Amino acid sequence: MKILLVDGTVLGRKTGAILEEVKTYIEQFDSKLELEILTFANYEHQIVDGRPFDQYNAGMQEMVRKIEEADGYIFATPIFQGSIPGVLKNAFDFLNPKALRYKPVSIVANGGTYQHHLVVENQLKPILDYFRALVTPNYVYTHASHFDADNHIIDENVHERLQELARVFVKYCALSADLPKTPIDQH
Ligand SMILES: Cc1cc2nc3c(=O)[nH]c(=O)nc-3n(C[C@H](O)[C@H](O)[C@H](O)COP(=O)(O)O)c2cc1C
Repeated sequence: MKILLVDGTVLGRKTGAILEEVKTYIEQFDSKLELEILTFANYEHQIVDGRPFDQYNAGMQEMVRKIEEADGYIFATPIFQGSIPGVLKNAFDFLNPKALRYKPVSIVANGGTYQHHLVVENQLKPILDYFRALVTPNYVYTHASHFDADNHIIDENVHERLQELARVFVKYCALSADLPKTPIDQH
C-alpha cells in the first residue's frame, strides 16, 4: 500500500517535523507500507477555479495525482485562523469525491494555542467524513512547547501518542485493504 504523508501547509516547519516522526513509527509497525512525504511548500499552488484540469501547472497535476493514487494518508496541518490552511482546503477541492473513500487516514496538527485542538474535530474531520475516509479515532495535536529550537519533538507524551497513532493507523490500513474501492474517473 502507498501511504502519503501530506504536509498541508506552505508556511511553517513543525508539521513536516511531526510527519518525519510518524513516518518512523509507521515503519516500525509495518515495514511493507510504501511511505512518501508530500510537502505542499514544494509546489506552486493554484486556486481551483473550474478550468480544465490539464491547464493547471504540472506541480498541481502531480500533487492531485499523488493524492488520488495513494491508498492511505497522514494529513498534517497547522491551525490558521481557527481552521486549516486555505492551501489544504484547496487541495481537497481538487479531488474526486470518491478519491479517499474507505482509505485510512490519520491526522496530526500543530497550533500556536492549546485551545484550538478541536479544530481537527470540527473542521478537518467533517471534510474527511464527506470523503468517507476511514479516519482513525487517534489524532495528535502539538504546540510550540512540545518542540525544541530545531523543531525536534521533545515531549515524551507526544512521542507516545504518535506511536499509538501509528499503531492504530496500520490496523486501519489492513481493514481498508479488505474494503472494495470505487474506481474514479481520471482527470
Ligand atoms: C496566518 C496564521 C494564522 C494562525 N492562526 C492560528 C489559530 O487560529 N490558532 C492557533 O492555535 N494558532 C494559529 N497560528 C499559529 C500556527 O498554527 C503556528 O504558528 C504553526 O502551527 C507553528 O508552526 P511553525 O512554527 O512551523 O510555523 C496561526 C499562524 C498563522 C501564520
